[in-house]
Amino acid sequence: MENIVLIGFMATGKSCVSRSLSKKLNMELIDTDMYIEQKENMSIKEIFNKKGEKYFRNLEKQSLEILSNKKNIILSTGGGIISNDQNIELLRKMGRVVWLKASTDTIIRNLEKSKIERPLLKVENKKQKIESLLKSRIDKYSRCCHFEINTDGKNIDEVVSNILLNF
Ligand code: S3P
Repeated sequence: MENIVLIGFMATGKSCVSRSLSKKLNMELIDTDMYIEQKENMSIKEIFNKKGEKYFRNLEKQSLEILSNKKNIILSTGGGIISNDQNIELLRKMGRVVWLKASTDTIIRNLEKSKIERPLLKVENKKQKIESLLKSRIDKYSRCCHFEINTDGKNIDEVVSNILLNF
């Protein structure tokens, strides 16, 4: 089966959905954030705090280049991977790209349940920051994906089934 690549904003369920797909399809799971953390021996939070976003984006790009010839994988990506046009091209060449979409309310609810700290969302007005980031990224997600799934009100199994309907 061709690779499945999950893209989408922070806290839209990429990690949970990719884990479930990986088990169900018996395909290796690679998460770009985890790959970067292992390579750098630092958490994403530490990388942002100590080296800054630009440094992280470079790591993200380099990692994707290394991972781009992998076969039979589920690739879960960081929400900002589409910031770079070359990444968009690479992701589309790697496999079927699925965009997990969610409303701002769903994103906020998921963030409250999540244990992962998102450095870009450590701001006073989280909602405003999410909305402005979404606005600046929506066109890129749309260009990058082969199809999109709205995750609002769906559980993991429902999202997974929806994805598989497209294969
Ligand atoms: C980011 C999303 C995060 C992580 C980093 C930056 C972003 O991944 O890569 O904090 O710019 O949207 P998740 O989408 O898994 O939260």
